[in-house]
Amino acid sequence: MGELAARLRTELERYSVGEKLPSSRALVERLQVSPVTVSRAIAVLVGEGVVVSRPGAGVFRAAPRATTAAPRDFSWQEVALSAEAGQPPSRSTDASGVLAALAVPPPDVIDLNSGYLHPSLQPERALAAALARAGRRPGAWERPPVDGLTELRAWFARDIGGDIATSDVLIAAGGQSALTTALRSLVAPGAPVLVESPTYPGILAVARAAGLRPVPVPVDGDGVRTDLLADAFAATRARAFVCQPLFQNPTGAVLSPERRREVLRIARAAGAFVIEDDFARRLVHADAPALPLPLAADDPDGVVVHVRSLTKAASPSLRVSALTARGPALERLRAVQAVDSFFVPRPLQETALELVGSPAWARQLRELATALRDRRRAAATALRRTLPDSLPPQLPYGGYHLWLRLPDGRDELALTAAALRAGVAVTAGRPYFAAEAPAPHLRISYACAPGPAQVTEGVERLTRAYGETAG
Ligand SMILES: Cc1ncc(COP(=O)(O)O)c(C=O)c1O
Repeated sequence: MGELAARLRTELERYSVGEKLPSSRALVERLQVSPVTVSRAIAVLVGEGVVVSRPGAGVFRAAPRATTAAPRDFSWQEVALSAEAGQPPSRSTDASGVLAALAVPPPDVIDLNSGYLHPSLQPERALAAALARAGRRPGAWERPPVDGLTELRAWFARDIGGDIATSDVLIAAGGQSALTTALRSLVAPGAPVLVESPTYPGILAVARAAGLRPVPVPVDGDGVRTDLLADAFAATRARAFVCQPLFQNPTGAVLSPERRREVLRIARAAGAFVIEDDFARRLVHADAPALPLPLAADDPDGVVVHVRSLTKAASPSLRVSALTARGPALERLRAVQAVDSFFVPRPLQETALELVGSPAWARQLRELATALRDRRRAAATALRRTLPDSLPPQLPYGGYHLWLRLPDGRDELALTAAALRAGVAVTAGRPYFAAEAPAPHLRISYACAPGPAQVTEGVERLTRAYGETAG
């Protein structure tokens, strides 16, 4: 569709202002594309103001927009946006880490940056069928219960395991929204919150936007360093720690059994919550050993606030997640979520329920496990050949990422820029650290490329850029 709009834009130069373009039917025949593609491309051009559409009459070249209008003056907003009564937390939000993760590279660039599945790995047909069935459910557009559809909450409770009950689960709009609610509910503005280091930049952004102070605790191959976690609690008196025990983003580390016990013991002793971001639970590879249960399944006293979302294993637009807690904390979460957003749209909840309740869901998870294993192998094989020293000693058996260590002094931003010029998008490591980064890193995400061959080609392009930027 983008290509067609570009082609029509070029063709437009041959038309005079007010002249009629060929009919949609003529374009469909001449360009051998579908009517939907033509009408979408025309909608793009209408939106750009280069054509006007007169229903019943046709589409015409528009007059160029007047360029002589005086520039508008928004300077008053600088004062309005900066004036603070007293000294509340700053209202400016740094979205750079989140927007970098959501960036869509140009079509000729291989994407090894995004945190979501390539469309070919998303269950598109099953999602379409689930959406259609959901639309036919009685009351599909009525207001859902504020906590979420009971059936969906029950499904998430079973999916999490342990003794989690339906009533412990709130339905939220994806992991990001659930994490935001958790941090805003449990930690007061200005207070510290412990985070893993490195960690997902989205959690740092959420914490800072809520006026919290993220305090990093290093992660190694066995997950968070529990000796340093205890020190960090003692030094900061923080009341919450955000942890990804399974296939941590970006390192892929799984919290070892001893450290699982330690994390829970240390948090209990500190009187603090563990916010468990279980984002990668369904991103396990086909060659993985048995997985540990979530921390939430082993938590009699409500220490763990658990987050899991359907976006990562299905589609970024299936923004449905579970936010789980016990005790008064659950009431806090419920209140904050209701005030912020009322509830998650019912058609989306119904769609999620239709999807996870159909045989297509188990099939999706099986196929995904194989596809992720194959892409990890393609990435690791290419890297062993080209940049062997960058690989971690232990390759993750879940998630979508490889966290590459670069030699000291390597400029990772220069490398990511050169990689983009060489035709591959990869992620700089710097935004994953809450404080100074101890070393330069790069993250490769292998689930967003079309297939293992493109993963290999992407690594080769990265290697060329690596050679060009060597100091
Ligand atoms: C570790 C981690 N947690 C949570 C999220 C949020 O994902 P979503 O809001 O799509 O569920 C992401 C997305 O990249 C992530 O990497």
